[in-house]
Amino acid sequence: MSVDKAAKADEQKKQAALQALTLVKPGMNLGLGTGSTANHFIRALGAKVKEGLEVKGVPTSRATAELAKELGIPLTTLGDHPFLDLCVDGADEFDDQLRLIKGGGGALLIEKIVATSAKEVVIITDETKRVKTLGQFPLPIEVVNMGMKATAWKIERAFRMFGMNPKMALRVKDGQLFRTDMGNAIIDAACGEIKDADRLEFVLNNIPGVVNNGLFINVATRVIMATAKGTQEIKGK
Ligand code: A5P
Repeated sequence: MSVDKAAKADEQKKQAALQALTLVKPGMNLGLGTGSTANHFIRALGAKVKEGLEVKGVPTSRATAELAKELGIPLTTLGDHPFLDLCVDGADEFDDQLRLIKGGGGALLIEKIVATSAKEVVIITDETKRVKTLGQFPLPIEVVNMGMKATAWKIERAFRMFGMNPKMALRVKDGQLFRTDMGNAIIDAACGEIKDADRLEFVLNNIPGVVNNGLFINVATRVIMATAKGTQEIKGK
C-alpha cells in the first residue's frame, strides 16, 4: 500500500472508530479490540473517560491493556463481568454476511473470547477490508507448541477435504517465531477463496492442537465501514 493510500485508510479507520463511540453509554462494560483501528477507538474513548464518562473495558491483548491503562480507562475482566454490553474491534476482512477474518495482529483467541461475550459486536474498518469472498487475507490459525508439525499436517489434510491447498507458513516476527499473548504459535494459511467459511471454522477448531482460527462466524452484529464519502453501517440479520 502506498503512503498516501495508507494515510487515507488510517483516516477512515479513525472515522469508523468515532462513529462506534456514539454507541457507548455510561455504565457500559466494553470489550476493547486490538489493532490500529481499535486503537483509534480506545484513544477516543480515553478522551471521553477523561471528560467523566464511566465505563469499564476488557482488553483483548496486552498491547490494548497497556494503551487503555495509559489513557486512564478502567479495566475489568470477564471473571468479574462475563456479559459485556458492547465489543468494538477491527478486522482483517469482512464479507456481506458479516463473517470476518481476524488475527493479523495475533490476538484472535482473546478477541474471540471477548467478542462472543458481548451483546453487540461492532467491527470498525476502512473500505479496503470488504471482500466478496473471505480468504484474500491469510487465515491465522493459533496452535499449541506440542506436536506442532503433526498439527500442521492435520490442518493440511482438513484443507484438502475442502478442495483447498493453501500455502502455510509459521508466523515469524523480528526474526523470531511469533508467540501470541497465550504463548502459542500461529500458522498463516494463504487460502485464496474460502467457499465454506462456516464449516471450515468448525473443522479447523476440531483438530487437536488447534487453539482457534481467525474465522469469526456469527460474531459481528454490525460493521461500521468508513469510505471516502462517509461511514456506512452494515447490520446483521
Ligand atoms: C488483531 O489480532 C486483529 O484481529 C485485528 O483486529 C485486525 O488485524 C485488524 O487490524 P487493523 O485494525 O490494524 O487493521
